[in-house]
Order: sequence, then structure tokens, then C-alpha cells
Amino acid sequence: MSASQIPVAVLGATGSVGQRFISLLDNHPWFKVVALAGSDRSVGQPYAQACRWVLNDPMPEFACEMVVVPATPECIDAKIVFSALHNEIAKDLEPQFAQAGLAVCSNASSYRRAEDVPLLLPEVNADHIQLVKIQREQRGWSGCILTNPNCTSTGLTVALKALDDSFGVKKVFAVSLQALSGAGYPGIPSLDIIDNVIPNINGEEEKVEWEPRKMLGRLNDSKIDLADISFSVHTNRVAVIDGHTVCASVELARPADPETAEAILRAHRAPASASELPSSPRPVIEVRSEADRPQPRLDRLTGKGMTTVVGRLRRDPILDLKFVVLSHNTIRGAAGGSIYNAELLVNENLL
Ligand SMILES: NC(=O)c1ccc[n+]([C@@H]2O[C@H](COP(=O)([O-])OP(=O)(O)OC[C@H]3O[C@@H](n4cnc5c(N)ncnc54)[C@H](OP(=O)(O)O)[C@@H]3O)[C@@H](O)[C@H]2O)c1
Repeated sequence: MSASQIPVAVLGATGSVGQRFISLLDNHPWFKVVALAGSDRSVGQPYAQACRWVLNDPMPEFACEMVVVPATPECIDAKIVFSALHNEIAKDLEPQFAQAGLAVCSNASSYRRAEDVPLLLPEVNADHIQLVKIQREQRGWSGCILTNPNCTSTGLTVALKALDDSFGVKKVFAVSLQALSGAGYPGIPSLDIIDNVIPNINGEEEKVEWEPRKMLGRLNDSKIDLADISFSVHTNRVAVIDGHTVCASVELARPADPETAEAILRAHRAPASASELPSSPRPVIEVRSEADRPQPRLDRLTGKGMTTVVGRLRRDPILDLKFVVLSHNTIRGAAGGSIYNAELLVNENLL
């Protein structure tokens, strides 16, 4: 490890999101992985033995021989932990790490709604990271918890941010088509999903109807005032491996024709503090003009999986505009998002 690198660990390292962390942290310019943690099932085994690797890129060499450790602060000597734990486990474990002085960058939903916990997409609400100071004061922690949103809220919120800044968003009606990897590994049995669409993902609609309101809200002293936007969302699981698609219709406060809205989306930039980080999406939004894009298989790796891809921007006969958004659920919507949040924390001297 070079003197300037920050030691980091991955909790839930063997899972669907954990594997993405390991892949994205390989040769990261700022972070060096020093520990991989799992459940009792994996502890004590070399990572290559404990993990059934499912990504196309090979398992990074650094990880293969690392012995999986328990997910407790006593077993991990790092400054940042990336958490790919399920909610009920994260709820107990993440505060233990924050109390022990580590920054927890979490994918779990356990603390997303907590008033003093930032729910971050740096290209949308980088300023909300200042909540970390309040969190430390209120909880007496030297570490902290930062969260990234649910993977379906992610791309939708990036697109809404650009539209909201220019036209004011009042109402959103959205239907998701969510990839299988969003359910973890092994996820849904093949006989349930091949030749099928499952029109329910437990707890997901409530998340997508609430989380964008926090991220599009304003930081007002010590809390976030939720954005005054109404959402109605349907969430569906479809037989796609990676990449969540969302079809959205929006009502705006000020009129916008599709051409102007397209130009606004293309021009959207992250705030200065978040635009030049190693994981910053380049570009933040790509707008496709073909009638049949974005498509998950063709477009999910745009900008190394960090870019939000928008297409089919057109007038909506009931609301004002409609469009399709695609975002890579385990990269921008999970591991890549947490790493981007950690980079912002470092860049803001809050680690
Ligand atoms: N998949 C996505 O697209 C996505 C997107 C955004 C957010 N998320 C969130 O990210 C989190 C992880 O999701 P996932 O899809 O990666 O799940 P997953 O594939 O089921 O992996 C779960 C991980 O948690 C570990 N684990 C289980 N019980 C544990 C315990 N008691 N102590 C320590 N580690 C334990 C497992 O380790 P062992 O293998 O050792 O048992 C495994 O590494 C969830 O909160 C999910 O909601 C997922």
C-alpha cells in the first residue's frame, strides 16, 4: 500500500454488490482493500473459495487469497468500510463501525431515512454530505454512516434533478423494469422469472416514492426539507441480468418542450466538489436520440456503468413530459455509488 492510500474493507464481500466493490476497488487510486468480511459461512476461508464469482471480469488477484474475516470492528483495521449487507444485519453492525471511528458507506436501507444520515448521489446533492457533522455531534461518533439510495431511485433522481433545477418537478409517475442482480445472488429461481415479469418487489415502491424527495430536498441547517414532489411508482422484476430501466412521466411547474428538456439533461453537471473524483460519471447523463434506446444490454456500461442514460424524451398527453431512464444497478446504483460517496467524503476533508 502506498503511503497515501486509504485502507478500506468490504462487508458482505461475497455477495452480488460485494463482488462489484472488489472489482471496482481493484487499482483504485485512493483506496486499498485491506479486509473482506462475510458471514460465518465464509469466515476463515480464502475469498476465492468462499465466493461464487459471477461477474464477467475475472476476480482481482489481490482478493483471491485474502482470508474472509468476521464483520466486526475488532477484526478490521481500516478507515472506510463499504457495506453490502442486508438491511437487518446492517442495522446492527453499521453503527458499531461508525462508533469505532470508521466511515461506513452503505448500500442498505436501514439508515436512509434517518434525519442526520446523508442519502447521497454526489452529482445531485453533494452538499448533503455536511450532515455528517451533525451526525457526529448528535451520536458522539468519530466515524459516520453515509448511504446511497435504492438502485431504482438512482437514475430516476439524476434525471429529475436536471429537470427540477430548470423547470420544477411537481409530479412523477414511474414504472420500473428491474434487473435480476438487484435481488442478490442467487436471487429469483429461474423457473419463476424466465418467460415472466413479476409485478412486485417487496418494499421497493415505497423507497422509490420517498428517497428522491430526500435527495432533491434542501439542506436547511441541521436537516433536509423534503422536496415537494408527488410520486406514484410501480416496480417490476424482469429477466435482465444487470441494469434497471424506469419509464417516467412528469408534471412540471414551468412548461418545457422535449428539445429544451433534452438540452438541459445533456448539459447537467455534477457540483464542482463531485465532478472530478475518480468515480465521477463522465458524462453525468447521456441522452440517446434513437427511438429504441436506452436498452440494458447495450447501454448499461455507458461511462463505465456510472452514467445515467435517458431516451425517448417526448410530450406526455396527461402530464408534461415522458422519458426512459437506465442505470446500472450494481455499479451506479450500488457499489460504484458508495465508492463515489467515499471519494466525496475524502475530498471534503470529512474522513
Ligand atoms: N443488488 C443490487 O443491485 C443492490 C443495489 C442497491 C442496494 N443493494 C443492497 O445491498 C445489500 C447487499 O445486497 P446483495 O444483492 O449484494 O446481497 P447478497 O448477494 O445476498 O449478499 C449478501 C452478503 O452479506 C453477507 N452476510 C450475510 N449474513 C451476514 C452476517 N450475519 N454477517 C456478515 N455478513 C453477512 C453474505 O456473506 P456470506 O456469503 O459469507 O454469507 C454476502 O456477502 C442489500 O442491503 C441490498 O438491498 C443491492
